[in-house]
Amino acid sequence: MADKVIRTIGVLTSGGDAPGMNAAIRAVVRTALGKGLKVRGIRRGYSGLLNEEIIDMTARDVSDTIQRGGTILQTARCEEMRTVEGQQKAAGICKKYGIDGLVVIGGDGSFKGAQKLSDYGVNTIGLPGTIDLDIACTEYTIGFDTAVNTAMEAIDKVRDTSTSHERCSIIEVMGRDAGYLALWCGIANGAERILLPEEHDYDEAKIVEDIKENRKRGKKHYIIINAEGIGDSMNMAKRIEEETGMETRATILGHMQRGGSPTCKDRVYASIMGAKAVDLLLEGKTNRVVGYKHGEYIDFDINEALAMQKGIPQYQYDIAKQLAL
Ligand code: ADP
Ligand code: F6P
Repeated sequence: MADKVIRTIGVLTSGGDAPGMNAAIRAVVRTALGKGLKVRGIRRGYSGLLNEEIIDMTARDVSDTIQRGGTILQTARCEEMRTVEGQQKAAGICKKYGIDGLVVIGGDGSFKGAQKLSDYGVNTIGLPGTIDLDIACTEYTIGFDTAVNTAMEAIDKVRDTSTSHERCSIIEVMGRDAGYLALWCGIANGAERILLPEEHDYDEAKIVEDIKENRKRGKKHYIIINAEGIGDSMNMAKRIEEETGMETRATILGHMQRGGSPTCKDRVYASIMGAKAVDLLLEGKTNRVVGYKHGEYIDFDINEALAMQKGIPQYQYDIAKQLAL
């Protein structure tokens, strides 16, 4: 539990940006101001905190932001925050600026920073912000819905040209070591194959055989959704073309998946999570992460949240394979 009255709340975004982060920032700012608190925005994540890039925020500073992708506070990755010296310095800067409670919007890495700040006496709440959906304590992360829809639309377009040319297309989606974007796109785009880093059934020889069989059955294209965690899409395309004789192209969707106006879901969930973060701080909570499970917005101890494990739901993956017949 937090041991002091909360008068000023700080907010920062950290790690990879994600659509909906602005909705979360806006909700933190307006909820806090509405409850009589001061709000300080910290630019460029932990790096900006360590450089004291701290600004007072008013309700107007977040006007016209809910529909914008990216993060108005900017984001960064910061090596210094991984060190004890960096963490102590960051906690000292929070104290210097009167920041009694800090809302950190980011992924697991960012939560580790928040956990350390909490150890050094700064009340912290984490909000899950990542397009990767790879945070174990929650079924929802800010940005995934927008990113998966962006990727799905892009893959539909690749599919059109792939069908016209009767080609095999390998489309690589982001997700770092996690395959959620790939799995969802695989199902939503009706892909013939989904390659996930969490699965151990990736056998290129079998894919080659399958492509040959599909050609015999008259299929006009062959779509492979490849997760970033497997990668190697360009070389894979060359090998598959050589082995099958089917023209093969690789498309790496890249950072376009992280941009764009957030979907309704990302705006609404991020807004509720932002407001909840402020309420948790006012309830005297610290070292918590907000999550969404079984239709409810909930919160977990950061240490417990970081210890949780999450895998690809086998049933969903089996269905994806079945539907690709
Ligand atoms: P994400 O938050 O999306 O998982 P990263 O893993 O890149 O992204 O982490 C974002 C930032 O969080 C890092 O650049 C670093 O500043 C901070 N961070 C990551 N791991 C730790 C750690 N073990 N201790 C303290 N801070 C950390
Ligand atoms: O964590 C979000 C993410 O977009 C991952 O999917 C990807 O692996 C990584 O960030 C890319 O990071 P960067 O923008 O630093 O290249």
